[in-house]
Amino acid sequence: MQDKSPSAAQAWSGRFNEPVSDLVKRYTASIHFDRRLAEFDIQGSLAHADMLHAVGILKIDDLSSIRKGMQQIQEEIRSGQFGWSIDAEDVHLNIEKRLTELVGDAGKRLHTARSRNDQVATDIRLWLRSEIDALSALIRNLQIALLDLAEQHSDTVMPGFTHLQVAQPISFGHHLMAYFEMLKRDSERLSDCRKRANRLPLGAAALAGTSYPIDREMVARELGFDGVCENSLDAVSDRDFAIEFTAGAALIMTHLSRLSEELILWMSPCFGFIDIADRFCTGSSIMPQKKNPDVPELVRGKTGRVNGHLVALLTLMKSQPLAYNKDNQEDKEPLFDTADTLNATLRIYAEMISGITVNKDAMRQAAFQGYATATDLADYLVKKGLPFRDAHEAVARAVRYAESRKCDLSELTLAQLCEFSPLIANDIFDVLTLEGSLNSRNHTGGTAPEQVRKAIQRARKSLSA
Ligand code: ARG
Repeated sequence: MQDKSPSAAQAWSGRFNEPVSDLVKRYTASIHFDRRLAEFDIQGSLAHADMLHAVGILKIDDLSSIRKGMQQIQEEIRSGQFGWSIDAEDVHLNIEKRLTELVGDAGKRLHTARSRNDQVATDIRLWLRSEIDALSALIRNLQIALLDLAEQHSDTVMPGFTHLQVAQPISFGHHLMAYFEMLKRDSERLSDCRKRANRLPLGAAALAGTSYPIDREMVARELGFDGVCENSLDAVSDRDFAIEFTAGAALIMTHLSRLSEELILWMSPCFGFIDIADRFCTGSSIMPQKKNPDVPELVRGKTGRVNGHLVALLTLMKSQPLAYNKDNQEDKEPLFDTADTLNATLRIYAEMISGITVNKDAMRQAAFQGYATATDLADYLVKKGLPFRDAHEAVARAVRYAESRKCDLSELTLAQLCEFSPLIANDIFDVLTLEGSLNSRNHTGGTAPEQVRKAIQRARKSLSA
C-alpha cells in the first residue's frame, strides 16, 4: 500500500491523510516553553531506558547508544546548539527525533512501554522538585535576614496598629518576627507539597498501564522518587501538585505583599520609620525630591500575577474528564512563571531587608503620640480592683482630657490622673512609659524585648535543625 502520510516529522503522522495546518501547528506546539524541561526529560528517559534493559526489553547495545546520544543532546542543549523545531511539537518529540537522528533504531525503541502522557507528568514533577528545593533555600535566607534585623531591634519601640490606628507599643523586632513565623509556615507548606509531588507517574503509559513487564519501582528509585503513583489514570491526569505549589507560592507572595505594604508606609515621609537603601528605589522624572519604593511596590503587584496563576490552574483542571487531555499542556506557563516570580522575589527581598535602616526616634515618637499605653492604664486599674468596663470608661475620659491638653497620659500630673480614678497612685508612671508597657507583656509570644530575644533564639535553632 502506498504511504499517504504527510511527513515523518510528526511522530503520529501515520494515521493522517493531510499535514496539520501551520496555524494548528503553531497553536498546539509547546516547544517554545516546555524546552525548559529538557534536562528532566533526558533524566527520565535514561532511567526508563535502564529499566527497559534490566527487564530484558532493550538490548545492551541499544541502551549504550541511547546513553551516548543523550549525552550529546545534553551538550547540544547546554551549549545552545540544539536545533529546536516547532515541527516536532514539544520537548519530548524534539529530543526523541534528535536521538533517532544520532543513533538510529535504538532511538525509536526508547518510547517502548511509555507515552508522552506519563513522560510529561514525570518531567514536571522532577522539575518542580528541584524548584522547591531552590525556593526553600531562598526562604531560609530571607528568614535569616529578618532575624538579623529583628535582633538589632528587640528593644526598638514602635506603635503596633489595629485598623492602622495606633493601638499598643510593640517591639520592632517583634513585628518582624511575625513575618518570620509566616515564612516558617510557608516553608513547611512547600515541603509538604514536595512529598506528594515526589512520586513517579512513568509506567502509567497513556492511561491504563502497559503490557510490558516493567519495573516501576526501579525507575522511581533511580529518579529519587519516594514511590510510584498508585493508579495509572490518576498518574497521567493528576496536577494537584501544580495547584498545591502555586497555592503555596500565592500565600508566600501574599505575605510578602503585606510586608511590602508596610515598608511602603513606613518609608513614606509621613511615617519616616525606615529607609530602604537607594539601590532598591528609583526617583521621579518630574519631582526631584522623590525616592520611590519600587521593589516593594512591584512585589505587591506581582502577587496579583501569582494569585492569577493559581486561579488559572484550578480552572484548567476543573471539569476535565479522566484521564489525560491536551488542556494539561497549559499547566506549564503558569507554573514556570510562578516559580520564577517567587524565586526572583525571595532573592531581592532578602537583600532589601538587609539594607533597611531604622529611625528609632520616629517610631518612638509615633508610639508616644498615639496614647498607646491607654490599655496599660486600664489594666492597672483592673489590678487595683476596678471592673474592666469601668476602667475602660475612666481611661477613655483621661485620654480625652490629655488630648485637649495636647499631651500624653504620662505627662499628666498624679492629681490630674486621680480625677479619673482615686485608685491611681505614684506607681502609675512606670506603667505609662513605653518600656513599661512593652516589658509587662512578658510571656511566650508577647512583645517584651526579653521574649523577642527568646523567640529569635528559638528561630535560629529551628533553622539550623
Ligand atoms: N506537550 C504535551 C503536554 O505538555 C505532552 C503530552 C502530549 N500527549 C498527548 N497525548 N498529546 O501535556
